[in-house]
Amino acid sequence: MKKIVLAYSGGLDTSCAIKWFKDKGYDVVCFIADLGQGEDFQKIEERGLAGGASKVYCKNLQEEFIDDFIVPSLKANAVYEGKYLLATALGRPLIAKYLVEVAHKEKAEAVAHGCTGKGNDQVRLEVTTGILDPKLKILAPLREWEFKSRDEEIEYARKHNIPIDVTKKKPYSIDRNLWGISIEAGILENLDQEPPEDCYLITKSPTGTATYPKYVEIAFEKGVPKKLDGKNVKLKDLIMSLNEIGGSYGIGRYDMVENRLVGIKSREIYEAPAATMLHIAHRELEALVLDRDLMHFKEMISQKYAELIYYGLWYSHLKESLDAFVETTQKYVTGSIRLKLFKGNCVPVGRSSAHSLYKKELATYGSEDKFDQRLAEGFIRLWGMPYKR
Ligand code: ARG
Repeated sequence: MKKIVLAYSGGLDTSCAIKWFKDKGYDVVCFIADLGQGEDFQKIEERGLAGGASKVYCKNLQEEFIDDFIVPSLKANAVYEGKYLLATALGRPLIAKYLVEVAHKEKAEAVAHGCTGKGNDQVRLEVTTGILDPKLKILAPLREWEFKSRDEEIEYARKHNIPIDVTKKKPYSIDRNLWGISIEAGILENLDQEPPEDCYLITKSPTGTATYPKYVEIAFEKGVPKKLDGKNVKLKDLIMSLNEIGGSYGIGRYDMVENRLVGIKSREIYEAPAATMLHIAHRELEALVLDRDLMHFKEMISQKYAELIYYGLWYSHLKESLDAFVETTQKYVTGSIRLKLFKGNCVPVGRSSAHSLYKKELATYGSEDKFDQRLAEGFIRLWGMPYKR
């Protein structure tokens, strides 16, 4: 029997996919990745087996997701098209890595996923799989099966006793992990429609948040967040706390029209309180410790780095090379940033670092000024010289 490893979420699509593959004569092994989406994994495992999988792997990948994917993207200040902090995009190469690993272990001939043919995630999973093992086949049932609507799919599931969970009609398509939530489809496809409050899962509406601000202090060591309000914390706990705190102040909501890889524009709502706060703090600290040239150059790298994540090129040589550059830039990114949270806003209001390049005696307009203003005249003359005709 031909064996495949299916990236399984427990949702309608991948549950139907198990049956669909079995009817085509495949032995289906499911793989569930725990990236902190906060699901009942035992229930999903049982559902996979009840739905016809011969085996279900469930792996907690949260630590690896944080250390090897989130942290490098934070160090790089990777943000796609000015808004998207890339939670979904960062998770895909990690899922693919383990699909390949399980496929090898199970001696499967192919891996499979439940992505549609219109999205970015199919590209990310397949490009990564192709890089890690070019010989593995990849199957994408949603690109070829016959269901024309979600209702038809539900009908199919009912007819074949596939355990699914469609008690209430899902108005949105949601992807969630520790770093953030992506929400699309349904009414959100109307660009002129403000996102209804019910599409947000972890952030409160800024209208209803506290009428007084809250301060949090984040300390970094070489670009990695280490402390919250002066206390050492594990990065996972820090991210979870910031999601909670930031969410309660309405921080990290984005309403975005983005350029997909497959050539279309789409509208996505993002929630990423922790990612937003950590990015703001990290950039603020860099502003203090990086010299001007390095900072400006790094901004170009950040954009490229974000593109590579979005495009599914995590395991490319270019991304690996940029990592080496980014790592060097983090040498002095040690210090603390105090953030003020208030009604959906997160602003840095305090900063300190032993590596700060800010010299008060040079910047001050007060009496302790050490800046020799007479030097400015000659500097300006030489600086402007090439531009005079
Ligand atoms: N647009 C985002 C990306 O390409 C998220 C994709 C998944 N979104 C979703 N709502 N299921 O990374």
